[in-house]
Amino acid sequence: MKVIETIAEFRAARAGFGSLGFVPTMGFLHEGHLSLVRLAKAECGAVAVSIFVNPAQFGPQDDFARYPRDLKRDLELLAGIPVDLVFVPAAAEIYPQGFDTSVQVGAVTRSLESKSRPGHFAGVATVVTKLLNIVQPTRAYFGQKDAQQSVAIEKLVRDLDIACEIVIGATVRQSDGLAMSSRNANLSPQDRERAVVLFRALQAAQSRYEAGERRAEALRAAMRDVLASVPQGSVDYVSVADPQSLIELDTVSGGALLSLAVHFGSTRLIDNIRV
Ligand code: PAJ
Repeated sequence: MKVIETIAEFRAARAGFGSLGFVPTMGFLHEGHLSLVRLAKAECGAVAVSIFVNPAQFGPQDDFARYPRDLKRDLELLAGIPVDLVFVPAAAEIYPQGFDTSVQVGAVTRSLESKSRPGHFAGVATVVTKLLNIVQPTRAYFGQKDAQQSVAIEKLVRDLDIACEIVIGATVRQSDGLAMSSRNANLSPQDRERAVVLFRALQAAQSRYEAGERRAEALRAAMRDVLASVPQGSVDYVSVADPQSLIELDTVSGGALLSLAVHFGSTRLIDNIRV
């Protein structure tokens, strides 16, 4: 496993591979990340992982400074797979002095997460564009956990003719249903217990859907009811949206993305399921 810090060295090392899978991450790796890495390795034969806590996708109120980091442990986990190339650039390698370009994906980035996190998706789209240009993967792997991000990246790659196939991997959960997230490490033990309410709320709406409910507002209400049982969680949004356009639905006809965002203290958690 080669650990590389510069773009020039990465490009040179990448040239030694044909088919290459790629999993971009911000580190503090968990089974959600590792499931994508294993899938990429199995499908492509070789895999590259990037670890870069991208300052451009954090707002001034966001948790950039508090975002958990443990490079030593991350590298041990990746060596166990084993990963072929790991890219760990410094911020100045990605954003050198004078850097002044931003990639802006359109309407799919204007709903849901963007209301609370203005500028977030421009930061994501810009860094992902750069990483795809640097790594030149055959396939790049993203998680359904970040549903809006995945939709935005599929759109970006299509619209900008980036020669790379995007694969979306299923959400990996803890045994109680909480979606794995690096941010879970910032929850107090009590909030960690309470946080299972996100998945319970999604499941409640899913059950209503499976019982025949098609009114989006009734599905949103089912989520809100469950979330209300844990008053320590402050609800940012609950959504029943079209899975491609991410526009809020009145009636579910061709499937929907159920999603929500909840704050526990200063930690913001998101989750979703497709019905
Ligand atoms: P990060 O949050 O580290 O996530 C890296 C990838 O792992 C993303 O594609 C994310 O959707 C996926 N992932 C996270 N938790 C998961 C889970 N429980 N199950 C399955 N997949 C999961 O997302 C980012 O980093 C950044 O925005 C990035 C794309 C790297 C750009 O900076």
